[in-house]
Amino acid sequence: MFRSPFSGFRNFHQSASLLHGHIHKPNPGEELHITFITKDGSQFTYEVAEGDNILDIAQAYNLDMEGACGGSCACSTCHIIVDPEFYDEIPEPDDDENDMLDLAFGLTETSRLGCQVKMTKELDGIRVALPAMTRNLQSRDFNN
Ligand code: FES
Repeated sequence: MFRSPFSGFRNFHQSASLLHGHIHKPNPGEELHITFITKDGSQFTYEVAEGDNILDIAQAYNLDMEGACGGSCACSTCHIIVDPEFYDEIPEPDDDENDMLDLAFGLTETSRLGCQVKMTKELDGIRVALPAMTRNLQSRDFNN
């Protein structure tokens, strides 16, 4: 289901069980954490389940990630910038993802497509920045 990034409101305490996206409720004790840095520099941290992808998580929480192709690796509107600390923990992008990343605005060395990155235990605590702020994003933006 497509969610307008401009609908709804942001709430730090929103529960995944209240959402209508494709994400799963994590089992007690198995929660993984992801922090999104939005284009205005705000940070939002969520508890998520292993196996959910970053596009679905962002859309479930009404963050500004378009996902125009619905997660089929045929656009670059789910472009994210990954905290360099976590980048190497993500499996390498395949050729399709690399092709689409080449089209992404503001490509960086730690760019990925959100729909192709699934949460794993290794990614617990990952931070990702959303594309609208990619122009000026530096490694130091993750150092706070
Ligand atoms: Fe289109 Fe990820 S939503 S490539």
